[in-house]
Amino acid sequence: MIRRAALTMLLGAAALQAAAQDTPSLAKAYEGRLKIGAAIEPSQLTSAEAPLLAAHFNSIVAENVMKPADIQPKEGAYNFGPADKLVAYAHGQGMAMRGHTLLWHLRTPAWMWTDREGKPATRELVLARLKSHIDTVVGRYKGAVYAWDVVNEVIDDKQPNCLRKDKWFAAVGDDYIEQAFRYAHAADPKARLYINDYSTEEPAKRQCLERVVKGLIARGVPVHGVGHQMHVSVFGPSAEAIDESLSTFARLGLENQVTELDVSLYRYQAKSLSDSEDTLLRLQGERYAALMKVFLAHPELRAVTLWGISDSHTWLNHGEYEGRHDSPLPFDRRQQPKPAYTGMLNAAKNNLR
Ligand code: GLA
Repeated sequence: MIRRAALTMLLGAAALQAAAQDTPSLAKAYEGRLKIGAAIEPSQLTSAEAPLLAAHFNSIVAENVMKPADIQPKEGAYNFGPADKLVAYAHGQGMAMRGHTLLWHLRTPAWMWTDREGKPATRELVLARLKSHIDTVVGRYKGAVYAWDVVNEVIDDKQPNCLRKDKWFAAVGDDYIEQAFRYAHAADPKARLYINDYSTEEPAKRQCLERVVKGLIARGVPVHGVGHQMHVSVFGPSAEAIDESLSTFARLGLENQVTELDVSLYRYQAKSLSDSEDTLLRLQGERYAALMKVFLAHPELRAVTLWGISDSHTWLNHGEYEGRHDSPLPFDRRQQPKPAYTGMLNAAKNNLR
């Protein structure tokens, strides 16, 4: 009996998986208009999520393995293996590959900040190391990575100059962003270069980002687009605020990309769900549809990347969110399509001709 039950379960799981792959492909639904991407770890290339990745996505980005401390943990000693796997997969599948990220206030290796005698590194040394990092990483993936998040989360609207008061700013001064873009452009003149950040729809943040980007453009810095992380929830921010932010940067002649989309079921900082999961999943479906509609209204926006594939692997249940049972992606923990998937698919059907 037990063996029979186990067999039925196994067959059931296989049938379910087949069903998920047979559902219309998200990537196909948006083909020619938007790339549909996923952030992944190399392990997901062979996990239960792999068939979904191949069927529904046509772009990937490294969730972690291209971050500075991951790819250059010791000065000059690069760990390219995991990133190479992703690049090879993308190439083999004919998928696009984004690069994330060359400079961030987090996941920067500690060696960046001291010299060989243990003294604080000078501006010159930090810039030389940044240049070497960017030359090496962008150079290695030249032609394979079509767009880079050159800098991530550099804006702080609480600062009078709009820049985060981090170690980059302390060591280099306010031109470190400009230098990073110039190094990246020199290493791969064809790559599209992005400034990536969160909460870009909040007015103060948006205005600061606009001010910084305008400054870059005025100085002739090769910045091509704004990456909007878009870690949002069922409850906000509003589609109108997002639309307004996208328009702000489109007016500057820049590209927009949605780079880290997921839709949490939780209210901001809540520890428990505020409604039944079924209700929230339905609202989540409507939310995905509404967001995709806004994105499609922006011709300068040609790629939407989700921060994961299915609810079985998401950062929203770990670290500061430990203890939550969040389900932010279009496929559930058994890799089955959710209302969020249907919302995405319907948005393509209803808004594309
Ligand atoms: C930020 C970063 C991402 C990722 C998420 C959380 O959005 O840009 O690389 O670390 O946080 O996982």
